[in-house]
Amino acid sequence: MRIDIVSVLPELLESPLQHSIMKRAQEKGLLEVHLHDLRAYGLGKHRQVDDYQYGGGAGMVMMAEPLANCIDGLQRERAYDEVIYMTPDGQRLNQSMANRLSMKENLLILCGHYKGMDERIRQHYVTMEVSIGDFVLSGGELPAAVLVDAIGRLLPGVLNDETSALFDSFQDNLLAPPVYTRPEEFRGWAVPDILLSGNLKKIEEWRYDEALKRTLERRPDLLEEEE
Ligand code: ADE
Repeated sequence: MRIDIVSVLPELLESPLQHSIMKRAQEKGLLEVHLHDLRAYGLGKHRQVDDYQYGGGAGMVMMAEPLANCIDGLQRERAYDEVIYMTPDGQRLNQSMANRLSMKENLLILCGHYKGMDERIRQHYVTMEVSIGDFVLSGGELPAAVLVDAIGRLLPGVLNDETSALFDSFQDNLLAPPVYTRPEEFRGWAVPDILLSGNLKKIEEWRYDEALKRTLERRPDLLEEEE
């Protein structure tokens, strides 16, 4: 999979993509991420990318022309399955959205800044708008890093144990069950007997029950979600 990300602050995206699982995904050639500095498409001597909003009001708006020029250039090179704009007023990211996006070939992600981007870009280029939650961050870079991580780890071959993503929280709309590691007893707190029993069938049942209990207690809304 190839992901292109357009940003006025591409440096913000470098570190999150250069470590751990995202690093491995790229080293294995399963994920290619390309960062594009919107400033390179800025207008005039000052490489302007934002301007005052029509109608007045505080805050700058990302100009249509630099964005359009950048996107046009990228789209001449390849067709994108989705042109995604990271914005708090987008569709809320969840596991099923990450699953669906992980099956695409080419994604283009646009990071918003300031008051957001000129509406005409949203109307004429953007095919999908994604929010990572009901709060406002100062730009779309961290949300883009979150989205790329959520997608990247799902690509076949990225995780060591190929099945492990299948048991993540939210797959099957269930939260993950509790997990334990050595020692069997720590400060008098014991690991549940069942996990030491070696009875794989019983362990699986226990995990399912615990996952269900946890979901009912913490996120009953997940059990009502149709997907
Ligand atoms: N940009 C600023 N806040 C955001 C959010 N919550 N989700 C996606 N993009 C954003």
